[in-house]
Amino acid sequence: ADSTGETLRTPIVAVLGHVDHGKTSLLDRIRGSTVIDGEAGAITQHIGATAVPLETVSEIAGSLVDPTDFDLPGLLFIDTPGHHSFSTLRSRGGALADIAILVIDVNDGFQPQTIEAIDILQRTETPFVVAANKVDTTPGWNPQENTPIQGSYDAQSDRARSTLDERLYDLIGDLSDHDFSADMYWRVQNFANNVGVVPVSAETGEGVPDLLTVLMGLSQRYLKDAMAIDVDGPGAGTVLEVKEQKGFGTAIDVVLYDGTVTADDTIVVGGTGDPIVTDVRALLQPRPLAEIRTEKRFEEVESVTAAAGLKIAAPDLDSAMAGAPVRVLRNRQREDIVEEVEAE
Ligand code: GTP
Ligand code: MG
Repeated sequence: ADSTGETLRTPIVAVLGHVDHGKTSLLDRIRGSTVIDGEAGAITQHIGATAVPLETVSEIAGSLVDPTDFDLPGLLFIDTPGHHSFSTLRSRGGALADIAILVIDVNDGFQPQTIEAIDILQRTETPFVVAANKVDTTPGWNPQENTPIQGSYDAQSDRARSTLDERLYDLIGDLSDHDFSADMYWRVQNFANNVGVVPVSAETGEGVPDLLTVLMGLSQRYLKDAMAIDVDGPGAGTVLEVKEQKGFGTAIDVVLYDGTVTADDTIVVGGTGDPIVTDVRALLQPRPLAEIRTEKRFEEVESVTAAAGLKIAAPDLDSAMAGAPVRVLRNRQREDIVEEVEAE
């Protein structure tokens, strides 16, 4: 906490893009996980959430990031499905985001859900970077595991380098056709006016240090004011999924984007009928770097502060609805908060 008593909250980073362009793989690379292996046909069908601590970000970013430059606690990544039938989930992910990564397969270029994602980002005024993924598929590519992209470029033949450059400039052209002035990220001076393109490979990890560095820079410079929250305030979030949790009955997976929720709180949750007003039975938190969708070992905690993914167990959650708001009541009028939840 700083002198004003406010704390910078973890920025929420949505990962959006066309099906199979490598969103989950990129997150797997950052988490050191293999969530993709558990997905039927490697198709993501739900929104995911993963907390990545600053430590991990600076470990991966290595020499590119000086952790003392940042006073953010880390990043909360939201994975979204790229398959065309999940457009509601993409909008929901986009609405939660402070910043976003638009993942585009460099070989495949702009595709329908790439354009849909851009529309969402434009509508929600979410700043984003483009991860130009799968650079390792460039013919003749000489992979450089986990290196910053500059070192990786230096290791390529002239031919491979110019093939990749051509593909990247096609992407920059496509972005400009959609009214975004874009350039290779190292040439971008002002990320508020220009979209940075970061060449990456989820397969080899090259460029991933750069991607995390750009994200931290974006969060720090352009979102700092928005990130300052009153951490003790009543929590607000969105339901991702309603699921049975062994030993706890029906629970909701939630992305908390504001304030705090404690195990003693009463919450108001949107549902298929009237808003549900219920007392928290348990707060279950995934481990750092765990994907909430696949986490098996949740830790029961007394309180959770935004931004975070968590599971809330409480009575009467059977009619809770994915996408609905969650509000902590705390010392406020019950009718006001019920009305707020109804209106959203
Ligand atoms: P949806 O969630 O269904 O939209 O797909 P996604 O964007 O999460 O893509 P996913 O991570 O599931 O990857 C799709 C396929 O591309 C998988 O077979 C990955 O192994 C492969 N892939 C992802 N990134 C890379 C990369 O950088 N290089 C190569 N060669 N393959 C990749
Ligand atoms: Mg996926």
